[in-house]
Amino acid sequence: MSENRLDVVDLDKKLSSQTPQEILEFALANFDNIAISFSGAEDVVLVDMAWKIRKDIQVFSLDTGRLHPETYQYLDRVRDHYGINIDIQFPDSAAVENLVREKGLFSFYRDDHKECCGIRKIAPLRKKLLTLDAWVTGQRRDQSPDTRAAIPVIQDDKAFARPGDRLTKFNPLANWTSAQVWNYIRSNGVPYNSLHDRGFISIGCEPCTRPVGPGQHEREGRWWWEEATKKECGLHAVNIEK
Ligand code: ADX
Ligand code: SF4
Repeated sequence: MSENRLDVVDLDKKLSSQTPQEILEFALANFDNIAISFSGAEDVVLVDMAWKIRKDIQVFSLDTGRLHPETYQYLDRVRDHYGINIDIQFPDSAAVENLVREKGLFSFYRDDHKECCGIRKIAPLRKKLLTLDAWVTGQRRDQSPDTRAAIPVIQDDKAFARPGDRLTKFNPLANWTSAQVWNYIRSNGVPYNSLHDRGFISIGCEPCTRPVGPGQHEREGRWWWEEATKKECGLHAVNIEK
């Protein structure tokens, strides 16, 4: 389709004043081969909104093998609630085996999280994105003043595009706050990860996520032993490439 000719910079100007539902409507109308990247946290609002537009939405999730039991239960709850398939992507078993054999199960606390995230998240994401023309994420600007303050609602994802091709990335919640997300979840009866009732805000893998206290930023619960500016695992490499 004409999507490869879309000028994302112009479109971003137009779409950024629109609601997440309108942005999703645009995305789903213009791309057939598009999928929502669902982390098992509060970006379920995207699934809810998209499902109300189109019942056959594609949703995928990256199972790193290190998620909380609550997140696994939640993925199945979302699957049942909407009657959708969630395409679970797994890491390459040989790569995980090598890492664990050479460095043990908790190397990220010593080395930083890049190597483990690279194997458990980024490689499977790359493989999945090679099959898509566009993807949708739940990233918001308010999630990280250091790395997400300027994310657009639509962008060319140069980090994961097939060579010589384009991959379009939509961030329909970019301009929403956490409060708006939670207001949507509660007023629409959307299922959410039970960890949120126990002080978790931003949820990733179990060993690299912890609850935050009053006044702490949500990102402080992720990879807390590292500097704020490094708290991107590479899924959104386009945020940090200048
Ligand atoms: S991360 O890069 O720090 O791990 P974050 O948890 O803030 O990302 O989530 C931002 C968006 O990335 C989510 O809304 C979702 O679209 C995508 N995402 C993060 N983790 C996963 C995952 N395990 N599977 C699929 N998508 C994910
Ligand atoms: Fe590994 Fe932690 Fe990254 Fe999960 S978040 S892939 S456990 S380093």
